[in-house]
Amino acid sequence: MDMFERLSPAPRLLMGPGPINAYPRVLQAMSNQLIGQFDPQMTDYMNQTMALYRGIFQTNNEATVLIDGTARAGIEAVLVSLIEPGDKVLVPIFGRFGHLLKEIAERAGAQVIAFEVPWGTVVPESTIESAIKTHRPKLLALVQGDTSTTMLQPLAEVGEICHRHGVLFYSDVTASIVGNELKSDEWGLDAVSAGLQKCLGGPSGSAPITLSEKAVSLIRSRKHIEEGIRTDDHISGSNSRIASNYFDIGMVLDYWGSERLNHHTEASSMLYAARECAQLNLQEGLSKVIERHQRAGAAMSAGLTSMGLTLFGDQSHKMNNVVGVVIPSGIDGEALRVAMLTQFNIEIGTSFGPLHGKIWRIGTMGYNARLDTVLTTLVALEALLTQAGVPVNQGAAYPSALAEFSCSRHAVDGVNHTSQATATEEG
Ligand SMILES: Cc1ncc(COP(=O)(O)O)c(C=O)c1O
Repeated sequence: MDMFERLSPAPRLLMGPGPINAYPRVLQAMSNQLIGQFDPQMTDYMNQTMALYRGIFQTNNEATVLIDGTARAGIEAVLVSLIEPGDKVLVPIFGRFGHLLKEIAERAGAQVIAFEVPWGTVVPESTIESAIKTHRPKLLALVQGDTSTTMLQPLAEVGEICHRHGVLFYSDVTASIVGNELKSDEWGLDAVSAGLQKCLGGPSGSAPITLSEKAVSLIRSRKHIEEGIRTDDHISGSNSRIASNYFDIGMVLDYWGSERLNHHTEASSMLYAARECAQLNLQEGLSKVIERHQRAGAAMSAGLTSMGLTLFGDQSHKMNNVVGVVIPSGIDGEALRVAMLTQFNIEIGTSFGPLHGKIWRIGTMGYNARLDTVLTTLVALEALLTQAGVPVNQGAAYPSALAEFSCSRHAVDGVNHTSQATATEEG
């Protein structure tokens, strides 16, 4: 059989909606040798990871763990563990990932009540409250940042609405976490799930989650330990058994907790990555990390508009870390994306559903939320648009991105954020 060449991926700059280039420190962490899953050093790392993600999620929830798998593994674990067949689940949709929550909730047997607002907008809190009053769901499932539209759904008031009406509140924060504010406890969230491959700055393949005591007690009422490891002390819960074994959060919590139940084999290299992502973001400081995303995102938007391009969606609700750009008429958006990749080694994003072929999505996330990456991307885009005959304002993007980055609204500390990621890497 023919063998292939040794792995040697091209030095791409990933400026799409995620995945992005991982922080070098995360890649280094992943290259450490494996240890056994019940090795005391490993269980220490697990406890440290739980503590670090409490910081990332801004929560005191004991139940803060990793689900092995990509971000949708976290979504699926939360939904299949909380939803019993026939439960009413409310899913307001403002982009592709709301549809994903609806789909997973349906597969978990929920009676899903969904409604959709136009892509490029968010859902007013009053609309959520009136849907809750009408339908009396058990659970509200709401995306925070939907990369398909670049919109950031306000969550701060939603927990209070849910609390008033006795509804559990779950949010998928995969695309928004640490690039935008999230206060799980203060905002009354019962369940939150994430992924590493956006602003956290790691590879996909681990899904941090956190659950309130209320969510955990519901899951405990469905307790079922698989035969072969079940002992006489394991008493099954009175409610229905969770339909998935892999995503049974009760068993996952018993693995991460003091019992150390022998459930799955922890994906150790991904745990190293997740631990490093959390640690380096907390070392930089959450407010600084969010501010860096805000500044890089604002610089990218300023550069694009100065060039003469139009941004997509309600800019007052845009995520810090990704921007939608309307593809100028008369050019082939896909051909330009390919040219960005082949001529400049820069990846920018396509789009889905109603936006397919209409916008590009450009991200400034995690390790790549920096001034140099913004400037490089703008210069490459301007060159290719000019070559394609699009009448752009030549030379305008670079200075306006530079100016926006240095005097951005939230710039207060005088930190040189151009070198921030490098400093983090070494720190
Ligand atoms: C908001 C949101 N949720 C879920 C996902 C799915 O993540 P994964 O592909 O890691 O399963 C994504 C990926 O882009 C996302 O942006």
